[in-house]
Amino acid sequence: MHNDLYAVVGNPISHSKSPRIHSLFASQTGEPVEYTAIQAPLEDFAGTVRKFFERGGKGLNVTVPFKEQAWQLASRRTERAEKAGAANTLFIDSEGSLTADNTDGRGLVTDITVNIGKELAGQRVLVLGAGGAVRGVLGPLLRESPAELTIANRTVAKAEALVDLFGDESGDTSLGACGFEQATGPFDVIINGTSASLQGDLPPVPPSIIGADTLVYDMMYSLTTTTFNQWAIDQGARHVHDGLGMLVEQAAESFFVWRGVRPQTAPVIDVLRNE
Ligand code: ATR
Repeated sequence: MHNDLYAVVGNPISHSKSPRIHSLFASQTGEPVEYTAIQAPLEDFAGTVRKFFERGGKGLNVTVPFKEQAWQLASRRTERAEKAGAANTLFIDSEGSLTADNTDGRGLVTDITVNIGKELAGQRVLVLGAGGAVRGVLGPLLRESPAELTIANRTVAKAEALVDLFGDESGDTSLGACGFEQATGPFDVIINGTSASLQGDLPPVPPSIIGADTLVYDMMYSLTTTTFNQWAIDQGARHVHDGLGMLVEQAAESFFVWRGVRPQTAPVIDVLRNE
């Protein structure tokens, strides 16, 4: 049978887990999906996207460093992508327009509320970081109506800019910005969205942000405990999670956007966790 073609585009791309995740979704659902990885040259993301759709490709995931470019390139954006300022999902809509979506925030919220089973409504939430990754998840986090959402960042002005940008979506949530040292806890939920771990660095947050029941979530995924999660454990955190669940959930949401079929994620998370 003829398969529909999908791919993830990034640079570098060889370590991406997306082809594995989507091939597990395809066999689980029986959808005729073939999913590959494409490394786009840094100076020609647009050309790579154009060629992919010209040869009949159905949908793309987009990863580092092209998410903002994907957002700019699209002629239509879903509401959640518009505010995110970045896109991880592209497809051609029924009118032939290149459309950008962003499923990262939905993926994070589903992992926390469904897989981990922690309600965000009414909770005190601390988000560390104010870059593209954090901007991409703020809308879906605010839609869960936490009591408080504090964005702490090394460059406080960037956290303040996000508070301005999302002020109109904050509803009953008290939305604020501060520097790392000023975060006063304990918080119910702490989400690390900085890229500090990539350099083995820690954001200089006070240990008092961690309570015994705090849920600590590092949006990064790694085979061993992330630098941030290890620090949290050392401060007494008992509930720490990395971003593997978010990775699988954003993929499932993209699969749903493209195919109208929602794969089960738990078995796929299990398989990946044990590979
Ligand atoms: P991403 O797409 O991963 O969000 P980004 O937009 O470059 O990448 O944002 C990186 C985030 O991690 C920022 O919040 C950055 O802090 P600044 O805004 O002050 O630059 C944060 N970050 C990166 N390295 C860090 C480090 N070593 N310590 C603390 N924060 C760091």
